[in-house]
Amino acid sequence: MDNSDETPCLFPPPDRLRNESHVKSMDDYKEMYKRSVEDPEGFWGDIAKQFYWASPPTGKFVDYNFDCRKGRISIKWMEGAKTNICYNAIDRHIKNGQGDKIAFFWEGNDPADHDSGNITYSQLKDKICKFSNILKQSGLKKGDRVAIYMPMILELTVAMLACARLGIIHSIVFAGFSAESLADRILDGQCSAIVTADGVWRGSKLLNLKSIVDVALEICSKRDHKLSHCFIVKHLLPKGHSVQQNGDCVDYPEEKPAQRPTRSLKINWTDGRDVWWHDVMGTASTDCEPEWMDAEDPLFMLYTSGSTGKPKGVLHTVGGYMLYSATTFKYAFDYQPDDIYWCTADVGWITGHTYVAYGPLNNCATSIIFEGTPFFPDAGRFWAIIEKYKVTKFYTAPTAIRALMRYGDEYVTKYDRSSLKVLATVGEPINPEAWLWYHNVVGNKQCAVVDTFWQTETGGHTITPLPGATPTKPGSATFPFFGIVPVIMSDEGVEITDPNVEGYLVFKQPWPGLMRTVYGDHERYETTYFKKFPGYYCTGDGAKRDEDGYIWVTGRIDDMVNVSGHLLSTAEIESALVEHPTVAEAAVVSHPHKIKGECTYCFVTLKEGKEFSDALVKELMDRVRKKIGPFAQPDFVQNAPGLPKTRSGKIMRRVLRKIAVGDKNVGDITTMADETVIDKLFQLRPPEA
Ligand code: WT7
Repeated sequence: MDNSDETPCLFPPPDRLRNESHVKSMDDYKEMYKRSVEDPEGFWGDIAKQFYWASPPTGKFVDYNFDCRKGRISIKWMEGAKTNICYNAIDRHIKNGQGDKIAFFWEGNDPADHDSGNITYSQLKDKICKFSNILKQSGLKKGDRVAIYMPMILELTVAMLACARLGIIHSIVFAGFSAESLADRILDGQCSAIVTADGVWRGSKLLNLKSIVDVALEICSKRDHKLSHCFIVKHLLPKGHSVQQNGDCVDYPEEKPAQRPTRSLKINWTDGRDVWWHDVMGTASTDCEPEWMDAEDPLFMLYTSGSTGKPKGVLHTVGGYMLYSATTFKYAFDYQPDDIYWCTADVGWITGHTYVAYGPLNNCATSIIFEGTPFFPDAGRFWAIIEKYKVTKFYTAPTAIRALMRYGDEYVTKYDRSSLKVLATVGEPINPEAWLWYHNVVGNKQCAVVDTFWQTETGGHTITPLPGATPTKPGSATFPFFGIVPVIMSDEGVEITDPNVEGYLVFKQPWPGLMRTVYGDHERYETTYFKKFPGYYCTGDGAKRDEDGYIWVTGRIDDMVNVSGHLLSTAEIESALVEHPTVAEAAVVSHPHKIKGECTYCFVTLKEGKEFSDALVKELMDRVRKKIGPFAQPDFVQNAPGLPKTRSGKIMRRVLRKIAVGDKNVGDITTMADETVIDKLFQLRPPEA
């Protein structure tokens, strides 16, 4: 790290945290870490004792093949043991006398929204059991897949835990995905039912979720897949307000708190399929015996972008994910029973699965579920919520930190943040400037900053500081979590031990939370993660270790772009672009972005005789939004009469990345078929790029 300015480059853990923390020094960390990698059975076996198991493992505690040369990749923890993650997350605490503890505070998009308020562990259990019974009565059973497409409301956690209680595999799709993306995911997972809500306010925008679901289900039925049920939570309409059910359409009255723009929402109704959540919840029983699941039975699938363009259904199993989500939550945030914890991620992403739902609940934590955005009604919202609930541990994304930084410190400092102890981040590399602002301004230099590196695939944190133990360096995720053995690998598959040499970040042995397969495509699992370096799990990220052994993750080294912490596949965007009738070919590359970290820059070659225009740029941007989702909209679309290609016809993305940023130093072009395209592309760069 650059030492030339005055900021220190090593931040010791705050003393007040060290005294109360689970791991109080680097020596303690090293000792625990050593045991976790040398004796995984002993380490995780002790942790497993804190959970309820209906029966013990029937075979080995951990059994795996991590080496594709030796046959099929397989990972099994505690196979044969029977448990239920919903029981452990909820019932276990009630049995321990914690039923009245608050599980979630719900904070609506509008600060005036209070209608759901908070929910205790006992109340949550009643709701989960009710919805489990409804799922059961609807004919759904263990092993079936149910899609969930919902806003950040308590019913989302109820729906996911009800699935988990019955052994139904939930497939949550972030409610910012388009109807087409939702349909693709429903079809790939062959989901038999879906849970959604009427709509949601995001900031000052009203989204009609039900109508998006209607379009998605229409696409599914055209492809011969019919869902038996669509459960709809009535979220926008005041609770207890009756809806005029006129057969096929419900009109919402324009009755909103003052700050909301008024607009009515139409809900189309398909008899026999559509069911109002509240209509069935009222009478359902609050008793529901959990289904005792094998530790290796699937718990959920969650789609993540794949470099070929088609999203992959990452599959996690019950036992290992339970141990890993709970343990990473406990140590990385140094969870204490009186904490008020808040993770701002949407449950539709893995961060929400692990650190809004399963991790906190398995620790009997009290957390906040926030429906809104950091900017509504203004850029002080996060800090207002921290003051309101006296949040102690806070987890958000670098992109949010960078965006909020721009509004100035007053939005932060006018609120009381003295309750804060841990400030964590996830999703992308955090630049030192944002790290320091988070530490100095938000945390008033009193908090531990915890930069957690992990992936949908890893189930939970893999590289992270521990708040009471690890001295941190801005921009480094520091050291491996328990059970993780990181290796920096050269392209040739040689382990790099020299400091400050970048290579591929890979992991040597499995940990309980690692994904078990790609749903329906085990071969893709093996080729994506295990073929490049036999014997290792390949993250797809680059990293280096500095002279002190700190790990610095440098970003993706495959054709993926990390936009605001959301991984996008360039191939998926390219295929959306070439669907446009005027586009012959498209190539998409990553471009640096001040707030989003990265954004996408698209080169499009038009068909003969077609004109490039501003209107076309807009159409293409809209097409990507519609096809994938609003968060995937490209920032730049440029005309490319020709693309730089090798003589064998491969697009030279490395050269395009240089052109995108206006860097004339394009590197080696000796393998290029036609060098003249480069000058043309530089001339055609959009002025704003
Ligand atoms: C990719 C995984 C894990 C939850 C959110 C994203 C990048 C994530 C960091 C970090 C540097 C990071 C990586 C990774 N990433 N956290 N702390 N420092 N990069 O989950 O969508 O599966 O994306 O996000 O590139 O591979 P995801």
